[in-house]
Formats: sequence, C-alpha cells, structure tokens
Amino acid sequence: MKHLSLQDNFKYKEYWRKAGLKKYYGQIFVDLVKQHNPKNFLEIGVFTGVTARNVCELLYLINNKDFFYLGIDLFEDFHEAISNEVVPEFLVKKQNFSNPLKSLVYNFLLKEKLNSLTSVSKFLKKFQNNIELKKGNSLNILPKTDLKIFDMIFVDGGHSYETVKFELDIIFKSIKDNCLVVCDDYSLQEATGIKKAIDETVRENLCEFKVVANRFACLRKK
Ligand SMILES: C[S@@+](CC[C@H](N)C(=O)[O-])C[C@H]1O[C@@H](n2cnc3c(N)ncnc32)[C@H](O)[C@@H]1O
Repeated sequence: MKHLSLQDNFKYKEYWRKAGLKKYYGQIFVDLVKQHNPKNFLEIGVFTGVTARNVCELLYLINNKDFFYLGIDLFEDFHEAISNEVVPEFLVKKQNFSNPLKSLVYNFLLKEKLNSLTSVSKFLKKFQNNIELKKGNSLNILPKTDLKIFDMIFVDGGHSYETVKFELDIIFKSIKDNCLVVCDDYSLQEATGIKKAIDETVRENLCEFKVVANRFACLRKK
C-alpha cells in the first residue's frame, strides 16, 4: 500500500479571513501546486494572503523548509491602479463581511484591514525568512523582478485585458522552460479580457495549455 506523505494529505484552509478562492477552488488550486512540486513561487495579487499562507504551508512540507514565496500586490492602495481596471466586487466595497462576528472583530475590535501589507505580513510571519511581499503595481514591479527563479507563478492581480496581457508578455519572455503559469478566472464573465489575454499568449508562445475546473488556465512553454 502506498504511504501518503504530509503534502499528499494537505487540505486547503480558509483561516477566518476573506479569500479569493474559498474551500472548493482552494483545494483544487493546492492540488495543482502539489502536482507541480515547486520550490520558488510567485503570486501576483495576494489580497488578504489566504492563498499565500496555504502555498507557504505546502511549500514548507514539499521542500523541507527550503523555499521562496514572492507576493506582489497594491495591498490597501489598490484604488491607485484601477481607473480602467475590472475590480472584483469584494474589493470595491468597504471591508464588508457576510459574517457579522468577523465584522465586529476586524472592523471594530482589531480595526484591521485584512488586505493591508501590515495585516498580510503578520499573517505570514511564521514564514518571514522564506517570503518577500512587494507593495506596488505589478506593471512596475514585474519588469524589475528576476522571473527565471520561479517554478510556479499564480497570476491573480488586475483583471483587465491590458494588465493580464502585459504581465503574461513579461512572464513568457523571462521564465524557465518548466515553469507552470496558472491564471485565475479564465472563464469569468465579468472580466472576459482575462480569457482574451490568455488565448493570445497561448497562440503567440505555442504554449501547452489546459483549463482546470473551468477556472484555472494552466500554461507552460512547450
Ligand atoms: C482577486 S484578488 C487576489 C486573490 C488572491 N490571489 C487569493 O487567492 O486570495 C486581486 C488582488 O490583485 C491586486 N491587484 C490588482 N491590480 C493589481 C496590479 N496592477 N498590481 C498589483 N496588484 C494588483 C488587488 O489589490 C487584489 O488584492
């Protein structure tokens, strides 16, 4: 009988924060990470850090503590970059929670903005020696980042055609051959520019391409 390792058994956790993926898609995403076994991981669009925390917990197990996670986000200043950006509903509103207890705790007791750099840094503190969080626009940060080191990249920042195409152009110019690039929201009706940017990238770079769970577009150089 095959023994399951700790990472085989790894389950996605929600951590009582707001999250982009939530349980069902979160588990599908961590299963993709497990299959690819990365050591160095880049996430564009960290939000409150729930995917980041799950990825770091998993990379810690896979690599026996030796891994690197880089997260890029505008964090609490996301308004600065969104004049022509498609913004998910949960970012437009104030920090509203469907659970009133969360609202009481985060808005009134802790007065903590969950998508702030301070809050996410605190949430990821146990991995502080393995991670870096860069606050700013991916369009400025990506061209100055060494992308060759990454084994897996999760593209989940801006949702406009222009932003995603710019990011994917830089990524495919710079990554190593076996890097897996996963883009969220491939089929999202409110942001069809994402699909357009991905489809063009696949054609231009003759990528290996598949869509998982009608949501995650997985691209790799052939
Ligand atoms: C959908 S959320 C990310 C969700 C996160 N990946 C998760 O799984 O929970 C999108 C994030 O991208 C950030 N963002 C949007 N446009 C950006 C840009 N041009 N540069 C950097 N971050 C950006 C927003 O601030 C927001 O936190």
